[in-house]
Amino acid sequence: MQIVITGANRGIGHAMYQSYLDAGHDVLGTARGREGFHNLDVTKPTDFASLGAAMDGKAVDLLICNAGVYLDKHHSLADGYDADTWAQSFAANVTGVFQTIQTLLPNLQMADQGKIAIISSQMASDTRAPGGSYAYRASKAAALNLGRNLAADLRGLGIAVGIYHPGWVKTDMGGDAADITVAESASGLLDRFADLSLDSTGCFKTWDGRDHAY
Ligand SMILES: NC(=O)c1ccc[n+]([C@@H]2O[C@H](COP(=O)([O-])OP(=O)(O)OC[C@H]3O[C@@H](n4cnc5c(N)ncnc54)[C@H](OP(=O)(O)O)[C@@H]3O)[C@@H](O)[C@H]2O)c1
Repeated sequence: MQIVITGANRGIGHAMYQSYLDAGHDVLGTARGREGFHNLDVTKPTDFASLGAAMDGKAVDLLICNAGVYLDKHHSLADGYDADTWAQSFAANVTGVFQTIQTLLPNLQMADQGKIAIISSQMASDTRAPGGSYAYRASKAAALNLGRNLAADLRGLGIAVGIYHPGWVKTDMGGDAADITVAESASGLLDRFADLSLDSTGCFKTWDGRDHAY
C-alpha cells in the first residue's frame, strides 16, 4: 500500500509510520522540517503544493491525518483561551486536516479503495462533555464533523472516511500518566484502518474497535 501520514516524526504518528514501514509498505511521512520526512506544516497553505507535487500521479491507498495540537490543556476559563489559541488550534486540527485531504483527493481516487483516517479524540464527543479544553475539544469536534460530511461526499468516489480516538496515549501530548503506549495505540489503529470500507464509512471508533458516541 501507498500510505501518507502527517505528523510522522514523533508520538502516535511515528509509531504508525514505523509499523507500516516494518510491514513493507510505501510510506510518505510528513513533518515540520525534519530530515527524512516530507516537509509539511499543516497550518501553512503554501506548503500543500509541494505535497501534491511529491505525490503527483501516485495512487494513495490510505491517508492518515494525525498531526494535531492541544494548546489549551492548562488554560483557565477566567483568563485563558485567547483568540490566538483558538486560531492555532483550528488551523492545525481542522483546516490542516481539510487541506491535506483536498490536496490528496486525486491520489485517493486513483486507488482501488482509497481510505482517509482522521485522528480526532474522545474529546470531540458532544455526548461526553465534562468541560474544559474548549479550543481543543471544539477543534476535534469540528474534525469529527468534517470527517462525517466528507464520508457522505466521497462515498460516490469510492473513498471511505473513518474518524478515530487513539486512546489516552503516553506521548508529549498525552503525558506520562496516560493509559496506553504508542505501540498499543498504533497497533489498534492499524487494525481499525484495515477494517475501514464503504460499509463503515463515517464511523467514529476507538483505537480498540468500539463505536464512540458522537
Ligand atoms: N496522546 C493522546 O492521548 C491523544 C488522545 C486523543 C487524540 N490524540 C490525537 O492524536 C494525534 C497525535 O497525537 P500525539 O499524542 O502523538 O501528539 P504529539 O506527540 O504531540 O505529536 C503531535 C504531532 O503532530 C505534529 N504537528 C503539530 N502541529 C503541526 C503542524 N502545524 N504541522 C505539521 N505537523 C504538526 C507534531 O510535529 P512537531 O514535532 O513539528 O511539533 C507531531 O509530529 C493528534 O491529532 C492528537 O490530537 C492524542
